[in-house]
Amino acid sequence: MTPPTASALADDTGAAAIAGGARPAIHLQGLRKVYNGTPAVDRIDLEIPAGEFFGLLGPNGAGKTTTLRMLLGLTPIGAGSVRVLGMDMPKQEREIRARLGVVPQFDTLDPDFTVEENLLTYASYFGLSGPALTRRIEELLELANLQTRRRARIDTLSGGMKRRLTLARALINGPEVVILDEPTTGLDPQARHHLWRQLRRLRERGVTLVLTTHYMEEAEELCDRVAIIDAGRIVACDSPQALIAAHVEPWVISLSAASAHRFIADPATLPARMLEIADSWLIYTADPVAVRAELESAGLPHSTRAANLEDVFLRLTGHDLRE
Ligand SMILES: Nc1ncnc2c1ncn2[C@@H]1O[C@H](COP(=O)(O)OP(=O)(O)OP(=O)(O)O)[C@@H](O)[C@H]1O
Ligand SMILES: [Mg+2]
Repeated sequence: MTPPTASALADDTGAAAIAGGARPAIHLQGLRKVYNGTPAVDRIDLEIPAGEFFGLLGPNGAGKTTTLRMLLGLTPIGAGSVRVLGMDMPKQEREIRARLGVVPQFDTLDPDFTVEENLLTYASYFGLSGPALTRRIEELLELANLQTRRRARIDTLSGGMKRRLTLARALINGPEVVILDEPTTGLDPQARHHLWRQLRRLRERGVTLVLTTHYMEEAEELCDRVAIIDAGRIVACDSPQALIAAHVEPWVISLSAASAHRFIADPATLPARMLEIADSWLIYTADPVAVRAELESAGLPHSTRAANLEDVFLRLTGHDLRE
């Protein structure tokens, strides 16, 4: 008998049936949540088509988790409406949950159980059992690269192993929509790339993915579209490339604070915008040749790169990402 593969897992997700369909997978309208008089989520409108890989970005406390929790029925909706796969939350919460997978921001694995028992227990919530479940658990252990740890207790796993198991658990019901709240936080580079590969495979099979992350290169790498959310509001929403083109100059030149102060003390009339970040300064410009010539003539060391999503984030939220 040939061993089951990860692709067999996805073949029976049913996700292909909805890929490319006109109905949005997720539709949020006027979504709002107020805690202690302060809005954590402030009238969010958002439509995510089926099959899209969508990123929700924002500084700490921006309202990302609260938005996702309302979408999942884990936090009561303050105001507005949530529709998932054409169904209404919370009215059709059970039906929605049956077709969703969730990777929460903080692991909720049961520490008293082994790796395999955690998958089995979770499967029982969906009424899954029998040989199909046994096969699926093998596939998921393979996907999470945890075959050799199946009898390990949760508290003996590393943080990265727990994250991988949590993703495997989220896929147990063959979900059409997978919600991932900071799935790669704390993962080493290899584990992060492994997870990216798994997420891309799901995307290729038509699964709708919604991810939050503080790693802008991750969002740029994976997401079809991203929303930047700040203080509970969406401040921009588009493809990473379109956001970069719309909100920041194409080139970024960085230099040390000491160099920057000399540069500022002798301001040249250059087409540039400057931003102080921790111990360095960033010069944003459409004309890097002119700025570099100026820096070079002043003997100031610097480096140049293309603008990226992190620059958009800084511009729109005014926060340092990893503060
Ligand atoms: N249960 C709660 N009770 C009171 N305030 C809350 C609760 N949950 C969240 N908040 C507040 O709502 C705001 C948004 O929090 P949320 O967890 O949604 O942010 P986030 O964007 O996920 O941040 P992070 O990037 O740090 O995970 C914060 O000000 C937070 O303190
Ligand atoms: Mg959060």
